[in-house]
Formats: sequence, C-alpha cells, structure tokens
Amino acid sequence: MAAVGMTMSLRSSTTLKGEFCGAAVRQSVAAPKAANVAFAVRAGQYDDELVKTANTIATKGKGILAMDESNATCGKRLESIGLENTEANRQAYRQLLVTTPDLGDYISGAILFEETLYQSTTDGRTMVDCLNANGILPGIKVDKGLVPLTGSNNESWCQGLDGLASRTAAYYKQGARFAKWRTVVSIPNGPSELAVTEAAWGLARYASICQDNGLSPIVEPEILLDGEHGIDRTLEVASKVWSKVFYFLAENNVLFEGILLKPSMVTPGAECKDRATPEQVAEYTLNMLKRRVPPAVPGIMFLSGGQSEVEATLNLNAMNQSPNPWHVSFSYARALQNSVLKTWKGQPENVEAAQKALLVRAKANSLAQLGKYSAEGEAEEAKQGMFVKGYTY
Ligand code: 13P
Repeated sequence: MAAVGMTMSLRSSTTLKGEFCGAAVRQSVAAPKAANVAFAVRAGQYDDELVKTANTIATKGKGILAMDESNATCGKRLESIGLENTEANRQAYRQLLVTTPDLGDYISGAILFEETLYQSTTDGRTMVDCLNANGILPGIKVDKGLVPLTGSNNESWCQGLDGLASRTAAYYKQGARFAKWRTVVSIPNGPSELAVTEAAWGLARYASICQDNGLSPIVEPEILLDGEHGIDRTLEVASKVWSKVFYFLAENNVLFEGILLKPSMVTPGAECKDRATPEQVAEYTLNMLKRRVPPAVPGIMFLSGGQSEVEATLNLNAMNQSPNPWHVSFSYARALQNSVLKTWKGQPENVEAAQKALLVRAKANSLAQLGKYSAEGEAEEAKQGMFVKGYTY
C-alpha cells in the first residue's frame, strides 16, 4: 500500500530551515549516513485486508461482542445459572448469541474461543456462518492464558507465541479475520518494569505474527481494576503501559492501520473510596489515549473489566461527546452478556427473551458509540457491578 510503505529521504545537511506560525525556525537534525532512509512499516501480502478488517470493525455505531471465554470461564458463567459445563451447554449458549436476529445492526465483530470457531449449531450451521450471515466478522482469542512471571512481584505473563504462526494461519482458513491477545497488568502488585516490558513485548510479537497471517490483532493490555488506588495512579500506569506497547509495536514493524486496541478505561481502583463520574473517566481516559495512541490506529474498543452494564455504557457515551481521532467503541464480554445469561437460565423457552436482552445491551452501546445514550429506563439489575477480585478470564 503506497500510503503505508513510504520511503522518505532526509537531507544530508545538519540544519533544516522552516516556518512555524510565521516565524523562521531552525531545527537541528542528525545527518543520516545514507542519502535515502527507508521508512517502510511493513509490506505483507495481507496489508490491504488488515486495514479493511480493522476499519470494518470500527464502523460507526458498532462494536465487538467478546464471547471468547475459555471453556473453564464459560463453565463459571453456566454454573452461575445452574448449568453444567458440558460441550452441549456451551454450544447452546453460544448458538443463542450468534443467531440473535439483527445483532449485526450494532455488532461488527465477535471474538470466539477456539472451540466455537470450529463448532456448529444444533441444526448443523457453523457458528462462523451464522456470524457472517449477520454481517459480523468472526475473531479468535489466540493467547494461551496467564501464568506466574518468575522474578516479579507476584505478577503474570501471557503465553501463546509458540506455534502462533501456524495456528493463526489455520484460524484464517477457518474464517477468522481478527484476533485477540489479553495480557494483564496489576497496579497493586507493582507493576514492575519487568512485567510491563514482558506484557508489551508479547503483545507486539503477537500482533506482528497475526498480521503476517491475515488477522487484524486486537492489542489488549488489561490494567486490572483490583486495588485501592485513585484514578491518578491508574492514569500513570496506563500511560506507561501504552508507551511501551507502542514502542514495541513500532520496533516490530506492526502496521498501525491494521490493528485495534482494547484498553481498560482509566478509573479508580475497584476498592478506592473515591468514585469517578463518567465525565471524569472520559476525560482521564481520552487524555491518556491522545498522548499515547497515533491517529493511524482505526479503533479503540474498550473492555468492561467488571463495571456494571450501565456504568460501562455511560462511560463510553461520555467519551463520545466530541469527535475523537479514532473510532471509540466497545468490546465487552460481561457488560454485554450478564443480563442475557440471567434471562436465558438455560431454558429453551427463554432463548428469544435472552436474545432480546442481548439486543438491548448491544443497542445501548451502539448509541453510546454515537454519544447518544441515556440510562433512563435501564433495569436495576443492569446497574449491578460485576467486579470480582483476582478475576481470571
Ligand atoms: P470484559 O468486558 O468482561 O472485561 O471482557 C473483556 C475481554 O477481554 C473479553 O475479550
């Protein structure tokens, strides 16, 4: 792509003259040894498609349904409504989600767990086909989860780089068009320099490998809500994490136009006594992102992280009150699925009502993406927080 793989030649002199606001400015630059310096970001066979995928997901008024719970986490969700963690129950639940009529009006992408990418509905259609029929791009969680990071302050790192190239190539063949890798950073446990560097480097390697195999990567360093810290501390940690992430993304020649971000919102720790209004959360979060994220990135798709359904939607709405350099939207799991599960209760006769509950949440977040949401008339249940200390996804 011409716009991406650009070549820029620098002058060999050490001084550039120019004008700024009418005043002459002199800028010293280091003289490069060669006359031409190539600034090719990358030139892979999928570049155009990666950009298209990321921009399709970042469509106005749309966001992502994260339904990539591992089988163990899906089991916890099913258990909360009295169901056993069997493949048939996981299939029934995921089928309910992907066959929701008109879901594509509000949802542009759905992140799947590997089992779902290869799974069919009870009437024999693949889950992937159901999503495509609804105009929703299928995505895939590709990380292999968190393990203790030795030498750190009880922090963790995210596994999954071994064999990732062949796995992502197979996922693309199976219909996936984007990917997700979730690593976490804990504020109460540090975060140590080691944990932040490991998280950022892992995300950058993952992103590069995904792009090489046709999947637009969602870059997700989740800053956990756990802790008593105030919003200023979260801002400080988030700023540090994102600066390292972008440093390593650039070092790995990742095509920024073909990625999506999945940040945590900048909020006080879950156990902090001072709470923040949606306007404060929006101001802190957007300030942080504007300082760290280049406008080449098409979309910022927030995780909900244990906020209540309504809180996550109100915060997103506050962030869309004025234009942003990127599409600012959602990629929620808990904040889209909680009322769905409670309505379904595992009963076939409740499927339709549960699908309606999903549409209610998807539409609310679609309106929030457009900055037009009001919490008026929201059910009390949708206002209940879902934070779980030490949550594992
Ligand atoms: P939550 O919205 O429940 O925090 O999940 C986010 C996530 O990473 C799922 O992909």
